[in-house]
Amino acid sequence: MTEPLCRLVYYSRNLVVGPDESIKAEVDSILSASRRNNAACGLTGALIFNRGVFAQVLEGPRSAIERTFERIQRDPRHSDVQVLALDAVDQRGFPSWSMAFLGRSLDGETMFGHIAASSGFDEKRLEGERIYEIMRLIALEDETRSA
Ligand SMILES: Cc1cc2nc3c(=O)[nH]c(=O)nc-3n(C[C@H](O)[C@H](O)[C@H](O)COP(=O)(O)O)c2cc1C
Repeated sequence: MTEPLCRLVYYSRNLVVGPDESIKAEVDSILSASRRNNAACGLTGALIFNRGVFAQVLEGPRSAIERTFERIQRDPRHSDVQVLALDAVDQRGFPSWSMAFLGRSLDGETMFGHIAASSGFDEKRLEGERIYEIMRLIALEDETRSA
């Protein structure tokens, strides 16, 4: 039997600072490692960031998510990694992206404004759903625009 599909949503504190070119180089290196490794172990997902925060969705077999997430959590380019959701799901939200990059131009308040205020498990779960839905919308808009 194939392993059930799982979805992880987390956010973290972005520690990548400096001039725009060096931020771009760091993000490019994260994306190229992500795309190479994720494609090899059946993961898909999306990454978004602003000056303060990274948010990422990873979806695929649970064991591949766990292995990858252990590496990600040790990465010194971010800290304070907070899991918002880790759930079994029926289908992928980003089936054609080994790691979709949704850019950095998002309004942090709109997307992350509620997180600081949330505390309990249920609230975190809701934030996970919300961030996942927002990232799906951005990815679909990007796809439509570039089609
Ligand atoms: C915010 C963030 C997201 C990342 N996402 C992934 C990912 O989806 N897949 C991955 O393999 N590495 C990801 N990385 C990079 C890993 O931490 C690690 O550097 C990389 O997996 C090492 O790969 P390599 O040994 O093939 O060079 C991410 C790093 C950061 C800071």
